[in-house]
Amino acid sequence: MVEDALVHDVRHGEVVVLRLANPPVNTLKHALRAHLFAAIERAEAEGAKALVLIGAGRMFSAGAEMTEFGKPPVSPTLTEVIDQLDAFPGLTVAAIHGHALGGGLELALGCRARVASPGAMVGLPEVKRGILPGAGGTQRLPRLIGAEPALALISTGDAVPAERALALGIIDRLIEGDLEAGAVAFARETLAAGRDVPRVRDRRVAGELASYDRAAEALARRTRGMEAPPATAEAVRAALTVPFEEGMRTERALFERLVAGDQSRALRHVFFAEREAQKVPGLEGVEPVPVERVGVVGAGTMGSGIAMAFAAAGFSVVLVERAADALARGLGRIEQTWRRNVEGGKLSEGEMSDRLGRIRGTTDLADLRDADLVVEAVFEDMGVKQAVFRDLDRIARPEATLATNTSYLDIDTIAAATSRHGNVLGLHFFSPAQVMRLVEIVRGKATAPVTLATALAVAKRIGKVPVVVGNGFGFVGNRIAFARSRQGELMLQEGALPWEIDRVMTGFGLAMGPFAVADLAGLDIGASARRTFGISFPVADAMVAAGRLGQKTGAGWYRYGADGRTGEPDAETERIIRETAARLGRTPRAHTPEEILDRMLLAMVNEGARVLEEGIAARASDIDVVFVHGFGWPAWRGGPMWYAENRGLAAVRDRLAELAAITGDETLRPAPLLERLAASGEGFARAA
Ligand code: NAI
Repeated sequence: MVEDALVHDVRHGEVVVLRLANPPVNTLKHALRAHLFAAIERAEAEGAKALVLIGAGRMFSAGAEMTEFGKPPVSPTLTEVIDQLDAFPGLTVAAIHGHALGGGLELALGCRARVASPGAMVGLPEVKRGILPGAGGTQRLPRLIGAEPALALISTGDAVPAERALALGIIDRLIEGDLEAGAVAFARETLAAGRDVPRVRDRRVAGELASYDRAAEALARRTRGMEAPPATAEAVRAALTVPFEEGMRTERALFERLVAGDQSRALRHVFFAEREAQKVPGLEGVEPVPVERVGVVGAGTMGSGIAMAFAAAGFSVVLVERAADALARGLGRIEQTWRRNVEGGKLSEGEMSDRLGRIRGTTDLADLRDADLVVEAVFEDMGVKQAVFRDLDRIARPEATLATNTSYLDIDTIAAATSRHGNVLGLHFFSPAQVMRLVEIVRGKATAPVTLATALAVAKRIGKVPVVVGNGFGFVGNRIAFARSRQGELMLQEGALPWEIDRVMTGFGLAMGPFAVADLAGLDIGASARRTFGISFPVADAMVAAGRLGQKTGAGWYRYGADGRTGEPDAETERIIRETAARLGRTPRAHTPEEILDRMLLAMVNEGARVLEEGIAARASDIDVVFVHGFGWPAWRGGPMWYAENRGLAAVRDRLAELAAITGDETLRPAPLLERLAASGEGFARAA
């Protein structure tokens, strides 16, 4: 039978090795579980004294098969396979290399002992998909390492390297060299010593309830709005307080509640949306150009962040500025940021100096003559950008990819400054560029497929989530965000206050309200973008005119205290808002939280529909990826288009029409695509 290839069993005397082989990452799909179950039974029937579970190929196992999620479980479930391991009368050993994640680690926890190759990563990342480990992970891990350490791992979903796992007690031995041979030797040794290794389920959980409950309370505060993290705390608490079987039932009940819930559905949507975004029609079989040397032009906020992102991923970077002092400031900012990471324990001193060694500063653009890729991040000014591209055209290698980080400007006009339009595209990073994972890859009308393929490959190598978008004002993210800002401005003119709007948005799940974010970025940034396009926001412009630029001037929408970061509502802001509204002849009125939320969100959805219709975004799910990874939209809310889809497009259309009527704002009139989909009952997915 072909499917037997999923689990190979090899006998080494009284030790049987079961090798999982479901390439590329050994997900625990149903057929594999069935074969594993049978192989365990067979080994027992044949009188094996020990079983070693090991993965073929790159890793032990990446866990459950995502496509089986949310569907009724088919026997044998992972829990049943693990029960079978527990029932095996002899020793059971998991031999881990690469990754043992999620169900993969739960399977390993179902063994009596675990060994691992140095550098192997283990973790229970389920919480990141809005669920919790559902095959005993929440009951067995605490029995191995104690309740609080287990909670720390399960509630964050973070994986740890084998060395740390050894210290924690998740694994029993590190094995240098041949893992299978080492694991078999470990099993023989244990058998020979006559040592009884208890089943994990039979061990006692270390931990003290009062202290555990304090940790769980702190977790609940940190993860406000999210369902899965507090549920993990409840499950691990059961490990501490009730017998194993009862704890398993608690885990199962929590798992079933979460997996059917809106948050895990949204998180799964984001997971698949990220993968979908990588599929770009027309790039099949197109080989990217190899990129090793990267040039970055401009060492301001973005240029220095972009240089950091590349250097951190091992690229050698040449960073170009206009003048020595600006260059020194840029390099200083880079060093300072990494220094803070070192102080925070996130980066080693050695890694920091390696990274710094990969960045060379210069004031001579001609130093980019060897670069494979150049990212321009100079002032947002067409004249300045065209001048840089004209020079790059002269200097850069003919096959070099030339990218601009422009936020709003036309890619084709920038490309027109060169004699190689096919090599030019947008690589639009988000601030801070070394942190935010989104990169919009902007395709100009002449951008060649190989240029696009190269940009996608490079973005992935630096750990970003690339989304290919079309050329047009603000591309996808900034254009849709602009529609939201516009509602914010209009509501201020109608008498709402920034902190009222922010409170509604943080209540929805955003980490920061849009006005607090504007204070952080600087109100002058938005103002100068609006000036370029002849757009006026009277209230925001009055704030800038009053010198209230945000945190950097001690006051913006909020007033900042001594630490410069904690904002308080400010009467002066209210005065500026009232005066501007009076000047515009607006009569103040009250806004319900529902109106505030709907105007901010549905304005985005409506603009998203226009962006889709114009082909600026290829799919609705691409828009969701943009907001989750570039704008701090909570992933458990799935993104604006997912939100609309779930609320129902007909309901969204009706509410938009109602809001347009109340406010007289034409931009809230339902977009034609939304009207069509709402009328036909189709979703955004089919519109793509
Ligand atoms: P910035 O003003 O902080 O930095 C621009 C830097 O470019 C300055 O240090 C300046 O000295 C340098 N520069 C100007 N002309 C130059 C030339 N000819 N050669 C070499 N260096 C030159 O501006 P920021 O915020 O870094 O923005 C840069 C670009 O990135 C703009 O196009 C902006 O729209 C875009 N962007 C900005 C984001 C933000 O949040 N700040 C986010 C995404 C894109």
